[in-house]
Amino acid sequence: MTQNDQKRAAAEAALAYIEPDSWLGVGTGSTVEFFIEALAATKSRFIKGAVSSSERTTKLLKQHRIEVESLNNVDRLPVYVDGADEVTEHGAMIKGGGGALTREKIIAAVAQKFICIADQSKLVSVLGAFALPVEVIPMARSYVARELVKLGGHPEWRAGVTTDNGNVILDVHGLSIINPVDLETQINQIAGVVTVGLFARRGADVVVLGGDAGVTTRVIGKK
Ligand code: A5P
Repeated sequence: MTQNDQKRAAAEAALAYIEPDSWLGVGTGSTVEFFIEALAATKSRFIKGAVSSSERTTKLLKQHRIEVESLNNVDRLPVYVDGADEVTEHGAMIKGGGGALTREKIIAAVAQKFICIADQSKLVSVLGAFALPVEVIPMARSYVARELVKLGGHPEWRAGVTTDNGNVILDVHGLSIINPVDLETQINQIAGVVTVGLFARRGADVVVLGGDAGVTTRVIGKK
């Protein structure tokens, strides 16, 4: 199976988690694009519509004639489906490779269940080989970078990129994240940080991975 086949397989398997007649949170990235295709082909008629994590996802959902609703108008969001740049077997993730981390984190906070879909290459034992994205208010860029160096990282400005929220991104290299909950909390405290792409305080509830031998599912907190 190619990596894209694995992403598609995970995306299709995630359809099983959708709650009918409800709003559905939809993430961002290439794996989610397979999910949107699968959703449009099968279940889109059974959900009320989607809450989107990025302008890119909104455009795709609308192309597939899936209604997009503002999060502010949604009182209950049973399920959020999104990809990850790295994920551990405990459901902690690095996200934000596509720059959509802030809206992703907000939707993840609201959703009752986070379904992470990915190909098997994303499964790691320790997070940090993938540079950790941090969304930052533009005027705080240099200050936040200096603070991230104090935490042992090597931040690099993602040049030419402005997020959907008008901010910039620092990608932090060189971290070996042994305690993701603590690091997420520490980086959250730096003035000027909007969002850190560590999703550990609120990680995935279910990790659906496409691999050579098919799809494997891990339900976090259950053996
Ligand atoms: C978007 O900002 C990210 O959080 C994505 O969820 C992540 O980068 C995974 O993307 P792929 O599915 O393209 O690997």
